[in-house]
Amino acid sequence: MARLSFFSLALLLVLGTLAASQDIGIPDVENGLIEDENNVTCVMVQGTISFTVNYTAKANKTEVVTVTVPEHGAAVTGSCNGTEGEQYIEITWGPVNETSSTRMTFNRTKDTWSLIDFTATVFMGKNFVNATVYGEKLDLVMNYNFSPLEIGVNRSFNCHSHLSAFNVTGSLDGAEYDLPLGSDLTNIQIQAYNEIIGERDFVDSVHCTADNTSDVVPIAVGCALAGLVVIVLIAYLVGRRRRSAAYQSV
Ligand SMILES: *[C@@H]1O[C@H](CO)[C@@H](O)[C@H](O)[C@H]1NC(C)=O
Ligand SMILES: *[C@@H]1O[C@H](CO)[C@@H](O)[C@H](O)[C@H]1NC(C)=O
Ligand SMILES: *[C@@H]1O[C@H](CO)[C@@H](O)[C@H](O)[C@H]1NC(C)=O
Ligand SMILES: *[C@@H]1O[C@H](CO)[C@@H](O)[C@H](O)[C@H]1NC(C)=O
Ligand SMILES: *[C@@H]1O[C@H](CO)[C@@H](O)[C@H](O)[C@H]1NC(C)=O
Ligand SMILES: *[C@@H]1O[C@H](CO)[C@@H](O)[C@H](O)[C@H]1NC(C)=O
Ligand SMILES: *[C@@H]1O[C@H](CO)[C@@H](O)[C@H](O)[C@H]1NC(C)=O
Ligand SMILES: *[C@@H]1O[C@H](CO)[C@@H](O)[C@H](O)[C@H]1NC(C)=O
Ligand SMILES: *[C@@H]1O[C@H](CO)[C@@H](O)[C@H](O)[C@H]1NC(C)=O
Repeated sequence: MARLSFFSLALLLVLGTLAASQDIGIPDVENGLIEDENNVTCVMVQGTISFTVNYTAKANKTEVVTVTVPEHGAAVTGSCNGTEGEQYIEITWGPVNETSSTRMTFNRTKDTWSLIDFTATVFMGKNFVNATVYGEKLDLVMNYNFSPLEIGVNRSFNCHSHLSAFNVTGSLDGAEYDLPLGSDLTNIQIQAYNEIIGERDFVDSVHCTADNTSDVVPIAVGCALAGLVVIVLIAYLVGRRRRSAAYQSV
């Protein structure tokens, strides 16, 4: 009896750890989705998208501002482009005449899709009151090393890990912006070229490489617990054999 409960407790621990490493729950699409005329939601994006801008303040020193795309209440536009050409999704936010926006463009090669262009236009409004460039629009081009780069059609890209752009270039009225710029993505989930009719949520996701390495921890814990079970069992069996040997010698 004691052996059984000890064993099942250990097994429960192992199963619990494995379950914790799986994705639980269905996400709500917050940032936006784009639908074609047949009710096929071709592009969906969700997650935290931010841009970091260093600027020169009037006091002649460098300051930094992080602009985050709001996860609720932004306007979303885009194109499914007949599911053949390039698709895009554009998220626009901010007050009238002071809007900022970001756009992701996707391309498809047979049965896979990839992000081919990621840009933004940041209106340097109230967060930039002390900037010498206050009230101007800064155009940004982001370069991310997504891994994997190509995702199967009907599948989404999912990355819990924090991703940083390796290069962000900016321009103001066509002139190159010469202070440091950055961009980050957290908990990002993207899907383009979805063909499943009536599916307004992300389907089978492909995790980024960065997430796979973080799975190592729960798997290691699971293996350690499984090892513990084996050790306890062996100790028990050895102990029982010793005891029965002791009985025989009496
Ligand atoms: C799309 O969905 C709307 C509302 O659910 C419905 O009225 C319309 O008929 C649908 N269109 C097609 C082409 O299925
Ligand atoms: C940009 O801003 C960051 C954060 O404040 C700062 O550490 C860095 O030195 C700034 N870069 C320049 C060139 O001023
Ligand atoms: C700001 O700094 C630059 C170089 O560091 C200098 O040339 C310029 O005169 C300074 N401007 C003011 C207003 O202090
Ligand atoms: C549709 O795709 C083509 C090329 O594949 C591209 O040139 C065009 O701009 C796209 N149209 C829209 C509305 O995105
Ligand atoms: C936006 O800009 C237009 C044209 O410059 C102007 O007529 C309008 O009043 C502005 N709206 C707001 C809310 O500032
Ligand atoms: C988009 O994909 C098509 C083939 O599917 C290819 O010919 C074209 O060069 C790609 N465009 C870009 C910008 O990668
Ligand atoms: C702008 O400068 C003033 C005075 O130096 C300061 O009190 C204020 O916090 C600054 N605002 C921002 C957004 O940096
Ligand atoms: C960033 O991109 C720009 C324009 O494509 C290029 O000139 C620059 O060398 C790149 N910088 C890095 C660090 O890759
Ligand atoms: C995607 O799913 C739709 C609906 O299930 C299916 O018709 C289509 O063939 C699938 N596309 C690919 C490339 O698997």
